[in-house]
Amino acid sequence: MKEGYGTKLHREPEGKKTWVDFLYHNIWPQHILNYNIWPQSPTEYRKANDEYCKYLVPLVDRLFEYLSTGLGLEKNVLKEASGGDNMKMLLKINYYPPCPRPDLALGVAAHTDMSTFTLLVPNDVPGLQVLKDDHWVDAKYIPNAIIVHIGDQFEILSNGKYKSVWHRSTVNKDQTRMSWPVFCEPPADLVIGPLPQLVSDENPAKFKTKKFKDYEYCKLNKIPQ
Ligand code: OGA
Ligand code: NI
Repeated sequence: MKEGYGTKLHREPEGKKTWVDFLYHNIWPQHILNYNIWPQSPTEYRKANDEYCKYLVPLVDRLFEYLSTGLGLEKNVLKEASGGDNMKMLLKINYYPPCPRPDLALGVAAHTDMSTFTLLVPNDVPGLQVLKDDHWVDAKYIPNAIIVHIGDQFEILSNGKYKSVWHRSTVNKDQTRMSWPVFCEPPADLVIGPLPQLVSDENPAKFKTKKFKDYEYCKLNKIPQ
């Protein structure tokens, strides 16, 4: 439902304009893919995505395991709580053309991702910034590195032990920036809330338990969760 092309050229609360075109489409699991909206050209596009997924899926599985272990839980817990094999991967392609007034614009305004976590590959034009101790810090471009963002669903599942990261992107006067985030998401109807193992009388639930699609609806429409 979120799949398709879009553009954003509007004023954000920070007083800057956003400056981006984008395409969203699912890349995993295979049976939900809607090839109708995938680009027809370049002809290698589908093959390149298949190939990328071959590497991405095992990486995602490993990250789920490490992050579960990091919470002191069995390694399968976070993946299961995120839908197991029904967990989805949504690709977004961001296209930030050169902007005549980068001082007045942002690529994407400050936000946290709704995902469990996000794996992002940028091109070599810097622009991603991450909020740390109330300051925007430039994320260095590291060739061949994949950037991992903790998203809202992991903040919720971990009852706040993992924090979803605030980030934004800047634009460039003469260079085109692109980025390819992959959002790992629970299926729409899956109910997500703080894991019972992480909730106690001393440490009560800090977040509501609700279906992912209801979380998404509130966030997209700026309704309190
Ligand atoms: C996003 C995003 C950052 C970037 O699209 O959610 O955070 O570096 N993009 O393009
Ligand atoms: Ni993001």
